[in-house]
Amino acid sequence: MKGIVLAGGSGTRLQPVTSVISKQILPVYNKPMIYYPLSVLMLAGIREIQIISTPQHVDLFRSLLGNGNHLGIELDYAVQKEPAGIADALLVGADHIGDDSCALILGDNVFHGPGLYGLLRSSMAKLDGCVLFGYPVKDPERYGVAEVDSEGRLTALTEKPSQPRSHLAVTGLYFYDNDVVDIAKNIRPSARGELEITDVNRVYLEQGRAHLVDLGRGFAWLDTGTHDSLLRAAQYVQVMEERQGVWIAGLEEIAFRMGFIDAEACHHLGQGLAHTDYGAYLVEIAGRGAP
Ligand code: TTP
Repeated sequence: MKGIVLAGGSGTRLQPVTSVISKQILPVYNKPMIYYPLSVLMLAGIREIQIISTPQHVDLFRSLLGNGNHLGIELDYAVQKEPAGIADALLVGADHIGDDSCALILGDNVFHGPGLYGLLRSSMAKLDGCVLFGYPVKDPERYGVAEVDSEGRLTALTEKPSQPRSHLAVTGLYFYDNDVVDIAKNIRPSARGELEITDVNRVYLEQGRAHLVDLGRGFAWLDTGTHDSLLRAAQYVQVMEERQGVWIAGLEEIAFRMGFIDAEACHHLGQGLAHTDYGAYLVEIAGRGAP
């Protein structure tokens, strides 16, 4: 499976902070925002990942993450000329996807919770069509909204409904089989001029091949698109890391635990960050040996 992190957009709600910088470079507490979605793809075991951003900002991500080889992954970069919608990423990334399946994640989404690794792996293993991840929110009208029947089967998807019929928002992580490229090619822009990911997902739903995994209570799916939500996400990460003494979205740690790099490489990366707590933490876990 190939991965795509969509890290373009205009970030208008975060202006003036985003007037000259990409939203997904901004810190969420102690690391750039893009680390969080990238960590999710790595946890899913995906090692070939394309980062899509704007013409102005794509080089920032390239400078930050390079070719990914230090993390045991392969990163490449592509440009979305205009913020033409989330589904447009599937067209920009079509060559990267090739004849493989694909996991698309939005560059401003933070996921954290128990069992994420297992959930990702089991969803990938049974992929037939698409897998969406639902999360109960109190303001569903801001999102794509999913309706499910009494057995949890997906029955309807509606983009930003004024009268939502459920509280289940569709989060910014999507697993697709290879049909997704053709499906994305055949949808038309919505009234707001974007290729809507909900329209792609609806095609799978009509085919009876759209599945929903409910992340449920106790899980954190955090939005970072406004000043307040960005601050709350940072506070969440700070509290969890401080309290538990573990790192959320530490890419080097995940690379080590997933077996993408060995203890020696992890130690080396830790030494490179020796002046930070995270560097010391990496050196310590590398010293414990094999993950
Ligand atoms: P949004 O939050 O919908 O849009 P935005 O980031 O441009 O911000 P604002 O609404 O404040 O103007 O985007 C969600 C994520 O998807 C975000 O990480 C940016 C990304 N995105 C793209 O990269 N290209 C696009 O065409 C769109 C619509 C979003």
